[in-house]
Amino acid sequence: MPEMSDAANVADPAFRNDVIRGLQQAQPSIPARWLYDHRGSELFDAITKLDEYYPTRTETAIMRDNAGAIAAAAGTGGALIEFGAGSATKTPLMIDALEPDHYVPIDISGDYLRASVAKLAEDYPDLAVDPVEADFTRSFDLPDEIRGLHRVGFFPGSTIGNFVPRSAADLLRTFRDILHDGSSLLIGMDRLKDLDRLRAAYDDTEGVTAQFNLNLLHRINCELDADIPVDLFRHDARWNEMLGRIEMHLVATTFMSFAIDGTRFTFDEGDSIHTENSHKYGKRAARTLLLAGGWTPVAEWTDDADDFAFILAEAQPNRFAP
Ligand code: AVI
Repeated sequence: MPEMSDAANVADPAFRNDVIRGLQQAQPSIPARWLYDHRGSELFDAITKLDEYYPTRTETAIMRDNAGAIAAAAGTGGALIEFGAGSATKTPLMIDALEPDHYVPIDISGDYLRASVAKLAEDYPDLAVDPVEADFTRSFDLPDEIRGLHRVGFFPGSTIGNFVPRSAADLLRTFRDILHDGSSLLIGMDRLKDLDRLRAAYDDTEGVTAQFNLNLLHRINCELDADIPVDLFRHDARWNEMLGRIEMHLVATTFMSFAIDGTRFTFDEGDSIHTENSHKYGKRAARTLLLAGGWTPVAEWTDDADDFAFILAEAQPNRFAP
């Protein structure tokens, strides 16, 4: 049918490649970034409001309760550089606290950037906003407008936890390349905690996280000319003790066979597609990860239960160690 071939033609080749190659591996897996199409982003937003999903609420409260101390330690004025398009709540909190001269949101999606810049322009008419449409996992030059200003990077949400430690350290090093020596980084990291609470945060009673995970299969069916029987998969959030992370999987509930763009796949009952990792870090491990990425932790704020950490780190110039 013409409609189907049109849909197949407009499919993102990187998406098709990641899905087909990912499903051909011994442990089938698909990179987590593909969870965030329009529907996936809506569902993630709904997750952040769930009772069981403590990270967003907790990090926001930490930032609000410690705004003065964070500003005193990170420095006011200067340039605030956010890795991501910005959130409706956390970005204004940091802008109010740090009172930057310039705000630089960086995101690969021009649409998200434009929407968030338009909103900020309404709320902060005097703030200079210099958006950069770029993939922040690769180094690039920041806008000339912020030359000479103290740079504070901002990476909230515990998104660092979605990278395996090796990639997380690479990402932190890229942030350092982008921001340069002498800059600061404010980063949110989720803590290790009681496993029942962790599992509940990724497998809520309303089933929103399950929908978020299963939406990936709907997306594949819509965008890649596939016939995956989505109803025959179930969401599974499992704790990997050795690697200190929650893993999201889509588990086949029965034997099945389906095709994606002409490539056939078979799944036995119990086989799974690994769709996301969410690493949790204890106090020492969080600091060690930052150090491995070239950042020296200098201050840390947590909630009373120590569920989440908001950490300030510095890109100190390299020097010979004793
Ligand atoms: C975006 N990221 C920090 C979330 C997390 O907690 O790892 C994504 C998420 N996946 C399921 N629930 C939330």
